[in-house]
Amino acid sequence: MAKKMSGKITAGLLSAVMLGVAVPFAGSLVNTNSGKVTAAEGTVLYSNDFEDGEVGKFNPRMNEGDSVKLTVTTGDAAHGGSSFLSCTGREKSWQGISLPAEGLMEPGEEYMVSAAVKAQWYCEVVMSMQYDDSTGTTHYVNIQKATSQGEWQEFDQVKFSFPKGSTNCSIYFEGNGDAKVELYLDDFTLSTVPEAELEDIASLKDLYSPYFRFGTAATDSELASKSAQKLIKKHFNSLTPGNELKPESILDQAACQSKGDNVDPQIKIDAARGILDFCRDNNIPVRGHTLVWHSQTPGWFFKEGFKDDGDFVSKEVMIQRMENYIKNVMNALAKEYPTVNFYSWDVVNEAWLDDGSYRKPGTYDQDRNSSGWVQVFGDNSFIEYAFRFARKYAPEGCKLYYNDFNEYMPQKTAAIVKMAEELKAEGLIDGIGMQSHLDVRSGSDAFPSVSAYEKAMKAFVDTGLDVQVTELDATVSSNDEAGFKKQADYYKDILDCCKKYADNISAVVLWGTTDDKSWRASQTPLIFNGDFTAKPAYYSITEDMKMPENIPTEPTQTTEPTTTEPVTQPEPSTTDPVITTTPPTDEPTTLPPSQPATPGEEDVKASKYGDVDMNGTVELADVTKLSKYLLNSETFPLGSKVAELNSDVTHDGMVDSRDLSKLLEYNIGKIPESEL
Ligand code: GLA
Repeated sequence: MAKKMSGKITAGLLSAVMLGVAVPFAGSLVNTNSGKVTAAEGTVLYSNDFEDGEVGKFNPRMNEGDSVKLTVTTGDAAHGGSSFLSCTGREKSWQGISLPAEGLMEPGEEYMVSAAVKAQWYCEVVMSMQYDDSTGTTHYVNIQKATSQGEWQEFDQVKFSFPKGSTNCSIYFEGNGDAKVELYLDDFTLSTVPEAELEDIASLKDLYSPYFRFGTAATDSELASKSAQKLIKKHFNSLTPGNELKPESILDQAACQSKGDNVDPQIKIDAARGILDFCRDNNIPVRGHTLVWHSQTPGWFFKEGFKDDGDFVSKEVMIQRMENYIKNVMNALAKEYPTVNFYSWDVVNEAWLDDGSYRKPGTYDQDRNSSGWVQVFGDNSFIEYAFRFARKYAPEGCKLYYNDFNEYMPQKTAAIVKMAEELKAEGLIDGIGMQSHLDVRSGSDAFPSVSAYEKAMKAFVDTGLDVQVTELDATVSSNDEAGFKKQADYYKDILDCCKKYADNISAVVLWGTTDDKSWRASQTPLIFNGDFTAKPAYYSITEDMKMPENIPTEPTQTTEPTTTEPVTQPEPSTTDPVITTTPPTDEPTTLPPSQPATPGEEDVKASKYGDVDMNGTVELADVTKLSKYLLNSETFPLGSKVAELNSDVTHDGMVDSRDLSKLLEYNIGKIPESEL
């Protein structure tokens, strides 16, 4: 006999998902705004109602020797039918019921679980996930919680994904609170998440193309959703990885320590691969975020030997660490993602306090507002070093930004303007990023007011630098029709302000795609609902706009290497895809007709095969030059016959994509220079 439900838990977010570690998202397709569930049923991958008396694919979650047991219990305490799974013998809160991913779930794909859970007596039952990252570090992430006092609670279409490239993945149910409490599970279903039909509405990036790029931010787990991918491809032409290019995602402590070089931080870009693959495959330009920041940067980065308990290093050491970190990041990205357009980078994030002073010394692990950079440098003088190194190592054409929040607080605006002008005089900075985490409050007092926001924007524009709105979201005063209307009006005013200064604004980027995945999910700050439908704010910022007649297409960064063999990464990772781009075309891209030879040119010879930019060495910059040339986005390398001859590394009398492919192979160590 089935027991009556006492409560139905529609999945919501547990945490500020874009803050902290790269946390996979939980959520359901329940749209809190309209109350409608749009998802069709997914394909069921595994289900168990325990009516056949079998525990099935579930395992007890415990260490060897522990006495956690899973048994099927029969009786009218079942949620549905007459049987359910009991987990007994628990001694620790993390012990419980586990379902390994093997044979059922793949990293990088999105799944959902519906199930009934119950605790013997008062206890929070938590659905969680576990996986190892590429360094072998195990992560444990809470996905959904429900408090049970001996009655069944339903988890309804709780969505999750394992990060691309992760291993040893499983989901599990544990009990938070009384460790000895028995847990029960019934009517469990694991299924795929069906793709949402996108609404037939105008593309933001197309509509806004006469003004600026329209972008968004996403984390790896958000991109596991095929519907999110579709939405991003349709509406946005700039993508900011939400966490994956931050120092804490990139720095590899074990490798730093084992290299034994106190000034050369070792890095890994594995966390960013899912997003960068997506950007590469869909030709979406990337905003790199962020190189130098007090937050989401491990304390050990500032310590001797890269040890948690080391002393703080000297300024001299830290300058070298900073240079090598920036160099290593830029080189790794250029090498593994030569075709991704990193069109902007946030070089320094959030260095100024609201009163225009610098942060307190200390580390983020100890105090979220302190800065390891200020600890080591004594003040904000690290900023200039950061921009110098970024300028030195960033790809050609990549614009460099200082990025901050509450940028409209008058003393902060002034501090940023002063710093930006000094950096500009040195030719080190290209723009200012206004994060723009805004709030529509009750009454008429949105924070900031549109006029305060405009004042800051104008002050930044007046520096002569570019401005980007880098993390736009605006929380609602109330999650109802009236709240969404106010939010829509505010969004419109902010976007109108951006349009007014559009000559000096190159991008407006939202911090997240759908409300349910936002770091401020409960305040629904974005313009798309969790079910991928547009909110009133989408309509308000598009209502008066006309689709332009000529919508520019994104130039491709390079063409597909014509080798039949995939080009592998220099440091092979077990699962990640190889460097490939658009599907190969039959015809190689060929040179435009040669320019008329200048006297004596007939006799010239190549100076060094592969040295496209003729600086004496063959390096990744030559690949970039050649690809730009082949795409006609630059005139032939330097207009020189020697450069042209140097580019013909296949020695077939033509400069085409085969040369590009061969040059790339050399740069990633597949062939020696002697073969060029
Ligand atoms: C700041 C950071 C972002 C992000 C948001 C909150 O604005 O720049 O990287 O962490 O906070 O999610």
